[in-house]
Amino acid sequence: MNPVHNPFAPGAGTPPPELAGRDDLRETVRIALERTRLRLPAKSILMVGLRGVGKTVLLDRMRDDAETAGIHTLRVESPERRSLPALLAPQLRQALLRLSRQEKARALAQRALRGLAGFAKALKVKYADIEVGLDFDPEPGLADNGDLEHDLQDLLEAAGAAAETAGTALALFVDELQYVEENELAALITALHRTAQRRQPVIMVGAGLPQLCGRMGKAKSYAERLFDFPRIGPLAPDAARLAIAKPARDNAVLIDPDALALILLQTQGYPYFLQEWGKHAWDTADASPISKADVELASASALAALDESFFRVRFDRLTPQEKRYLRAMGELGPGPHRSGDIADILGRPVSSFGPTRNQLISKGMIWSPNHGDTAFTVPLFDEFMHRIMPGTDWKN
Ligand SMILES: Nc1ncnc2c1ncn2[C@@H]1O[C@H](COP(=O)(O)OP(=O)(O)OP(=O)(O)O)[C@@H](O)[C@H]1O
Ligand SMILES: [Mg+2]
Repeated sequence: MNPVHNPFAPGAGTPPPELAGRDDLRETVRIALERTRLRLPAKSILMVGLRGVGKTVLLDRMRDDAETAGIHTLRVESPERRSLPALLAPQLRQALLRLSRQEKARALAQRALRGLAGFAKALKVKYADIEVGLDFDPEPGLADNGDLEHDLQDLLEAAGAAAETAGTALALFVDELQYVEENELAALITALHRTAQRRQPVIMVGAGLPQLCGRMGKAKSYAERLFDFPRIGPLAPDAARLAIAKPARDNAVLIDPDALALILLQTQGYPYFLQEWGKHAWDTADASPISKADVELASASALAALDESFFRVRFDRLTPQEKRYLRAMGELGPGPHRSGDIADILGRPVSSFGPTRNQLISKGMIWSPNHGDTAFTVPLFDEFMHRIMPGTDWKN
């Protein structure tokens, strides 16, 4: 069918035509934000899930929901090798400037902006990547110690006080939280702990890979009590069907039940894969309804597209040694796998793979569901490893 009208949207962070199966979580976050605004106790929420399950688009949708409800938000994505203060500072400035336009909040928002000036100047030595416009001179003693844990706490308190006078809340939306350095994570947790204790209307809604839970606990042992960690996984069958059938129907296209069943089987309900299969099934079919035969044909091109994008971008960032390690994991199947079994495949002692395994964890390729276990963070990556490194040469 005409690709011009194809509604499906595979891509990192690309909003889907139908955000299926996430209403409960959106409602949970909505309630937490409203409670925060009313200065009632509410936990910050960190959504964890594998690659491509829809964390980013959900975070963006929740942010839109919050903005529509009059909550002040800021949005940060933590790439590898950028410091948290550098990411937060410009976003916080924007939020505070917006708040300062409200008569009631002006004085306190300006005070927080002075705090931001002190924060940026004092921390510039340690975090050279901080670049932020300064609207006011620092206020001596406010967030300017040069110690991140202390200063971030001061700064969020000052920002929280401004939000409070405006009758709103400040919500920090942070994506890819697993890449934040441990001491920076600790500072963020402490600051949120402090604002929660003081019932200030500041809350975080974050997202990250499953290793995030462990990292949070390591950064601050009380983090597990302070946050909720809802898991985001593949879509349940009804939601997965809706994700495909509704956008098609909205475009006056039907899909046969057995065609839909085949899409569910092949994608296992993973959102990224659903979008890719939906897109290729649409392009392959000549006319409505999309048939099972169309989906069978489309599967090869959908998989090829994934290999060239979703899987490939991850593979290309790996060293030869890391590739061999993941290939050995793939040899064992979807996982999780015992580290000893992976080492056995490669014919060397477990200890010799410690550094490789750690690098793969910090690159966000694998994680450890339990001590000594290793699992992929990318769904179906085991099968991809077979396709991209076929045969047995990789063992040598
Ligand atoms: N609930 C959903 N229903 C249908 N499609 C979805 C849903 N959530 C996400 N998608 C689609 O899945 C793809 C991946 O979404 P997104 O980039 O948000 O995933 P992610 O979890 O952030 O992945 P990564 O860990 O790689 O950043 C996008 O093409 C998006 O349109
Ligand atoms: Mg994402």
